[in-house]
Amino acid sequence: MSSDDLKKRAAEAALEYVEDNMIVGVGTGSTVNHFIDALARIKHRIDGAVSSSEASTQRLKAHHIPVLDLNAAGPLPLYVDGADESNHSLQLIKGGGAALTREKIVAAASEQFVCIADQSKLVDVLGTFPLPVEVIPMARSHVARELLKRGGQPVLREHCVTDNGNLILDVYNLRILEPARLEAELNNIPGVVTVGLFALRPADLLLLGTPTGVRTLRP
Ligand code: A5P
Repeated sequence: MSSDDLKKRAAEAALEYVEDNMIVGVGTGSTVNHFIDALARIKHRIDGAVSSSEASTQRLKAHHIPVLDLNAAGPLPLYVDGADESNHSLQLIKGGGAALTREKIVAAASEQFVCIADQSKLVDVLGTFPLPVEVIPMARSHVARELLKRGGQPVLREHCVTDNGNLILDVYNLRILEPARLEAELNNIPGVVTVGLFALRPADLLLLGTPTGVRTLRP
């Protein structure tokens, strides 16, 4: 079974958490694309979606699923999104698709965060996947120096401007043993918009696609 089949399996399982008349928070990425396609089949049962990226907005609209502004929608009951890595406490690295800032906002505004992923995303220690950090363009070099001081190897993501007009530094060489502490510390560097660590607000549930079915993990 390909990793895309496993992503699809996890995405389909997330439909179970969608209730009638919900406004659903929708993340970004190839796993979420499968979720959006699945959501289209039950679109008559939901009131709409709040999207975390221009890419997801386009896909939702192509399926004629109403896309609502977060300010108008208010707190959301459910957010469904993928991840680049998850540890067993469901603390995540996200941002491989550069949508981390809006993803973190929608996750924060949601009561339940259901993470969907193929089994390769589950790790013991976060950091093998380079940690994405969104920065204000004028702060790029300053933030890179601060990350170097902390043992990371920041690399500017080429040809990448986020939906918010910012840049991404991908930080290699981290072994993240205290994700919540590191998230808070990096958030405090002036010029950092968002750190791709979702540890202070981890996922509530991880649906992991495996060749034998979907594993459901809780922190
Ligand atoms: C987008 O910025 C990311 O946070 C994605 O959620 C993450 O990269 C997962 O992507 P895939 O579902 O494509 O693996």
